[in-house]
Amino acid sequence: MNSDIYREKLIHKGAEANLYYGQWFNKKVIFKRRVPKRYRLEELDKRIRTERTLNEARALIRAKNYGVNIPQVYEIDVQNSTIVMKYIEGEKLKKILRTLDNNKKEEYFKKIGRDIAILHKNGHIHGDITTSNLIITQNEDIFIIDFGLHENSDKIEDKSVDLHLFKRVLISSHGKDYEVCFNAFIQGYISECEKENKNECNLIIKNINAIETRGRYVKSEDRL
Ligand SMILES: Nc1ncnc2c1ncn2[C@@H]1O[C@H](COP(=O)(O)OP(=O)(O)O)[C@@H](O)[C@H]1O
Ligand SMILES: [Mg+2]
Repeated sequence: MNSDIYREKLIHKGAEANLYYGQWFNKKVIFKRRVPKRYRLEELDKRIRTERTLNEARALIRAKNYGVNIPQVYEIDVQNSTIVMKYIEGEKLKKILRTLDNNKKEEYFKKIGRDIAILHKNGHIHGDITTSNLIITQNEDIFIIDFGLHENSDKIEDKSVDLHLFKRVLISSHGKDYEVCFNAFIQGYISECEKENKNECNLIIKNINAIETRGRYVKSEDRL
C-alpha cells in the first residue's frame, strides 16, 4: 500500500504508533501505523511491529463479535505495520467527563462496565481501559478503542487487574468524579458478569482490593 495516495493528517503520536486521519475508498479512516524504533535491531524491530499490528487487529476484529462498539478494521497492511480502521467521530470521554451531569456519568459508566464485562466473559482483556480510549459519538454510542495491550485470558487475576488499572486512571485523572464513575462502572460490570457466574464475579471484584493492598505494600517498601 502506497500511503502517498491517501490524504493523511497526523493526529496523534503515541509511544509505539502514529495515528493518521485520512480517507480510504471514500471512507473516513484512521491509519494506526507502528513506527520503526532505531534502538532495536532492524530485523527484530520489523518482527515486533508485525506481531503487534496483527495482535491488535485480531483483537479488534474478534472483540467486535459480541455487540460491543469497536471500530471496524478495514485492512491490515503488514508491510507498513498499519491497521486501517473506521474513524469514530466523537469526543474522548476524558475531554467531556467534567461537563456531564451525574446522571449522564452514571449512565455512561454503567454501559462501559457492562461492555467490559462482556469482553471479559469472552476472554478479552483490554489492557488499557482509560478515558482516552473511550469515544462518545453524537448519538451517545460509546466506542472502545486501542487494543494495543489486549490479551486473551480467562483468569480472574487478569480481569481484576484490568478493572484495577481503570480505577487508578479515574482516581488520577478524574479525582472529583472518581466515586460516581467507578461505582457506576462496577455496578454495570456486575450486572453483566453475574449473569454468567455470580461466584466468579464476586471473586473478580474482591480481588481488586487485594491487588490494591499488594500495591500499597510495594509502595511502602519503596519508601524505605
Ligand atoms: N478509530 C478511531 N477513531 C477516531 N479516533 C481514533 C481512532 N483510533 C484512535 N483514535 C485517536 O487516536 C488516539 C490514539 O490512538 P490509540 O489507538 O489510543 O493509540 P495509543 O496506543 O498511542 O494510545 C486516540 O486517543 C484517539 O484520539
Ligand atoms: Mg490510547
